[in-house]
Amino acid sequence: MTRTKSCPKDILGLHGLDGRTIIAILDEAVALRDDFRRCGKPLDILANRTVCLLFFEPSTRTMNAFAQAARNLSADVLSVAAGETSSISKGETLLDTARNLEAIGADRFVVRHGSSGAPHRLAPLLRAGVLNAGDGRHEHPSQALLDMFTLRERFGRLDGLHVGIVGDVLHSRVARSNVWGLVACGARVTLVAPPAWMPPGAESLGAEVSHDLDAVLPGLDAVMALRIQKERLGGDPGPTTSQYAARYQVNAERLRRAKDSCVVLHPGPINRGVELTSDVADGPRSLILRQVTNGVFVRQACLARCIRGLDKGLDEGLDEGRAS
Ligand code: CP
Repeated sequence: MTRTKSCPKDILGLHGLDGRTIIAILDEAVALRDDFRRCGKPLDILANRTVCLLFFEPSTRTMNAFAQAARNLSADVLSVAAGETSSISKGETLLDTARNLEAIGADRFVVRHGSSGAPHRLAPLLRAGVLNAGDGRHEHPSQALLDMFTLRERFGRLDGLHVGIVGDVLHSRVARSNVWGLVACGARVTLVAPPAWMPPGAESLGAEVSHDLDAVLPGLDAVMALRIQKERLGGDPGPTTSQYAARYQVNAERLRRAKDSCVVLHPGPINRGVELTSDVADGPRSLILRQVTNGVFVRQACLARCIRGLDKGLDEGLDEGRAS
């Protein structure tokens, strides 16, 4: 089992990370999961460290999985969310908020923000490490890592798998991080979306592109349905729910075309009856709750990796693992 040795203080995205580095993070997630199970109590890797969850957008899975991961590694956890309970509602900036929390003792921030690039702008201005928990429509690296962890757990490899990512690709940070991560690890990825929800030049991400799920489905090892992000659709809503479901919904009838071994993923939260039918979401092909469980293990590895980056100093190693 490979454990990462030298690490950057931040994990901001998977774009540009090489496959070797991603596999090392997944291996570390396995090792920490097994250590925690063997030990039967929190590991002391983050003892006397403070992880601050800084969420400017709603979250159930990511925020709580990071909190659980931090507790499993003996960290203290602070939690600040946009809304009436924090001074963010009084207009305090992201940087001022983070600097004040750093002054309180936070040495690791898990940041979700509606603005693409917000964690990237914050990270160089802080001594603390920054983990991107989803920025606008840009990246969601820990989600893609847990998706890859789950696929590797099921198939024993990522190299050579064919993964279809289906739905609102245009607004999806999950899709972007998964394309970059999966392709770096040797998987083939096909993005499938209605024309209105396929970003222009999507092939440049490294994936193949299709508007026809029924044509692509028979060749897939895994189909990942994306959430339709109503909050990001803006003035151009694209297809109606019924138009979308008719061509892109992952349902039992459509899955008759798929291999017996084809599995179904979804990052959550699910719009039941839209992207997926309930019989598929809760059925034998579904790995959706497995993804959520694995999210704790992957985030343990992300937090542990960043603490080693912090201990090395601010700048040293920041580019470690970047493909040349
Ligand atoms: N997949 C995901 O990011 O879920 P949350 O919005 O609940 O964190």
